[in-house]
Amino acid sequence: MKTLAPCTLMIFGANGNLSRLKLIPALFRLEQANVLPEKMVILSAGLEERSRDEWVGEVEGIIKAKYPKGYDKATFEKFKTRHQYHATPIGDAESYNRLKVLLDEDANYPTDVVFYMAVRPSEFPVIIDALGNVGLLKQTAGTRRVVIEKPFGYDLLSAQSLQKSLYKHLNEPQIFRIDHYVGKGTVQNVMVFRFANMLLEPLWNRHYIDHVQITHSENLGVGGRADYYEGSGALRDMIQSHLMQLLALVAMEPPVSLAAEHLRDEKVKVLKTIRPISQSAVHAHAFRGQYASGTIDGKPVPGYLEETGVASDSTTETYAAMKVFIDNWRWSGVPFYLRTGKRMAENASAIMIRFKNPPQDLLRATRHEPPRPNWIMLGIQPDDCLKMEIQVKIPGLELQTRTISLDATYRKEGEDEYDAYEGLLLDAMEGDHSLFLRFDEVEWSWRVVDPILKVWAMERDFINTYSAGSWGPRGTYRLFDREDQFWRHSLNVKGGDLEAY
Ligand code: BG6
Repeated sequence: MKTLAPCTLMIFGANGNLSRLKLIPALFRLEQANVLPEKMVILSAGLEERSRDEWVGEVEGIIKAKYPKGYDKATFEKFKTRHQYHATPIGDAESYNRLKVLLDEDANYPTDVVFYMAVRPSEFPVIIDALGNVGLLKQTAGTRRVVIEKPFGYDLLSAQSLQKSLYKHLNEPQIFRIDHYVGKGTVQNVMVFRFANMLLEPLWNRHYIDHVQITHSENLGVGGRADYYEGSGALRDMIQSHLMQLLALVAMEPPVSLAAEHLRDEKVKVLKTIRPISQSAVHAHAFRGQYASGTIDGKPVPGYLEETGVASDSTTETYAAMKVFIDNWRWSGVPFYLRTGKRMAENASAIMIRFKNPPQDLLRATRHEPPRPNWIMLGIQPDDCLKMEIQVKIPGLELQTRTISLDATYRKEGEDEYDAYEGLLLDAMEGDHSLFLRFDEVEWSWRVVDPILKVWAMERDFINTYSAGSWGPRGTYRLFDREDQFWRHSLNVKGGDLEAY
């Protein structure tokens, strides 16, 4: 691991959910791993006035909440010395002048600064304008980088206008558009799996692969995030960003190298070759649903419309599925199915690749059921695993077959598990863009989903529902091309390899 240069990390929205649940705990883990630069300041910004001591007390509360069984006190003593607090109350333009004086003149603050926007999307341009107007984004004394959370825009046009407003004060190398999915170790494993093994490359194309499924499902409902989610919905929240990134990693050509631009060039190429979905084809390519009340872990849970902050006639989708085709030599004719949902039966993210059947079914006479295809499955969470299903002969006198799973669970006991944010924070401090999105990636992803968003926005009087705790609305099966294709829910062989409801 490289030694990082001293830097100031300023978190806007330090008191918000993202910062409390992800960023501050991730920084603490980096402290534990002893990889933060000796001279590094974490400057938290929030709307309320607070003394430094009060803020350090809150940080301790955040760490205690994260590690209820106890945390490493010695590490915390060191961690707390890094924390400072700066209030930026709404309408107080002076607070940015004070910030400028602090960062420019106080020798305790390293001059390389990373500004992390852990705020509502509408605040991104406002804060960046304020920083730019006082000259804090000029790279005279040190580097100035900005990390921008998703969603980057609301649709193609708004993403383009957000981009324009950033370019008033920043150039591209200063911008780090984060998609925390790309930072997950298991997602990076997709690349390792594909490009560090020779075994797969000959099979990784339309000649052998029948279709690909990419799923992210969650038990949780919308929780306290209705004000954001009502304006977003599942397609924007998960598919336009995280699942499109997974698709790009599965489908891209081998890059020239793992350097940021080479990697991002290949991802963009895939996104560009996704066949545009015309508005009249939206119903054949996309399906949405909303959770109704149901049962999760044996407990009754309310439907989306009963959640606090949700309009009683809302047609915001909490489930979205879509089918896309990648019109290039490798993938022509292979459907990629993407789906995501809240309040689903399980928490599970996985990439499932189904292979074609052998050209001749020599074993037909020995079976009473349709042939079972091979699957390769990459579990992303909660099980990070790699499984491959193949057919073998059942021991005995008769020639009968069964499916077995080659299970290459690759985590060894004692190996550290990091959340995505640890690595991404280090990369931003180091200036490595490989795991951050370039604007053209964001733009092309919006192009894919924009027609669907437009049609759904017009259809406001009806949405399919599904019971909380189920696998989503039944009608979603109509996306599949053939009758022998189904959503695959489980990574395990369970009687049948393809599961119906
Ligand atoms: C976020 C979405 O980007 O990703 C959430 O806004 C979603 O709605 C979350 O729950 C899923 O991320 P993870 O890392 O918990 O799978």
